[in-house]
Amino acid sequence: MGGRGSGAVPVCVAYQRLAVPAAGEVMSFNPNKRSPAVTRYVLPELRYDFGALEPHLSGKIIELHHGRHHRLYVDGANRAVEELIEARRRDDFQHIAAIQRALAFNVSGHVLHSIYWQNLSPEGGGRPTRALAQAIDRDFGSFDAFKKQLTRVAATIMGSGWAALVWEPVSCRLGTTQIKDHQGEVTQGSVPLLVLDAWEHAWYLQYGADKARYFEAIWNLWNWDDAAARLEGAQKLDPVLAMAVEAPGEEARLPH
Ligand SMILES: [Fe+2]
Repeated sequence: MGGRGSGAVPVCVAYQRLAVPAAGEVMSFNPNKRSPAVTRYVLPELRYDFGALEPHLSGKIIELHHGRHHRLYVDGANRAVEELIEARRRDDFQHIAAIQRALAFNVSGHVLHSIYWQNLSPEGGGRPTRALAQAIDRDFGSFDAFKKQLTRVAATIMGSGWAALVWEPVSCRLGTTQIKDHQGEVTQGSVPLLVLDAWEHAWYLQYGADKARYFEAIWNLWNWDDAAARLEGAQKLDPVLAMAVEAPGEEARLPH
C-alpha cells in the first residue's frame, strides 16, 4: 500500500491554465508592467442545491456558509496575494508576517471549504467501500472506531476549527488531525481527504448549542466516493522522505 513508484507525473491544474488562461480565472496584477500573471482563487459552484442536504443541513446554512463565509476566504486569499506582489514591487517587507498569516488563513479556509462541499452529497452517508474501507480498517481498526475518533476530534476543538481525515504520506497511513482555525496545528505533508467544519457558522443556525447533533447528522452526508478519489490521488504523492520512516518490524538500517 502507498501507491509510490507509479511514475505518475504530478498535475497542477492551476499552473497548466496559466499557459491558456480561462476567462475570469487569471488576472494580471501588473501596475508597473513587470508582475507576472497571477492565478486567482475562485468560489467553486456547489454540485447540489442549497436545500439538497436537508434535513441534516438546512438550505439557509448552506447558502450563507457558501455564499458569504467561503467567499470571504476567497477574497481574502486573493487580497493577500496582491499584497505580496505589491510588497515585492515596493521592496517593502515591513508587513510580511501579517500578510503571510492572512495568506495562510484565507487560502487554507478556501481549500478546506472547497473540499467540504465536495465531501458532502445528498446521496451520501453509509460507509466507504473498497480501498478506502480497507485503509480505514487497517489504520483505525474499524469504521466504528474511525467514526468515534473523528467525531471526538471535532467535539474537542477549542474555538474555531476543523476535524479531518488525512493521508500522511511519510508513513503512508490514514490519520486524523484537529485544525485550529483553518491552518493551525496541521501535520506537515498530510493531505485532507474528509473535512468536518466545526466552526459555529457551519451548524449554529440549525443546531444552536447542541453541536453534537450536527457532528452526528453529518455522517448521513459524507460522499465516500469523493474521499476515496482523494485517497487515490494522495497516495501518488511521494514526499521523498523514505529515510524518515521505518516499516513495522523492520530493523533499523543505520548503525546505532
Ligand atoms: Fe466554514
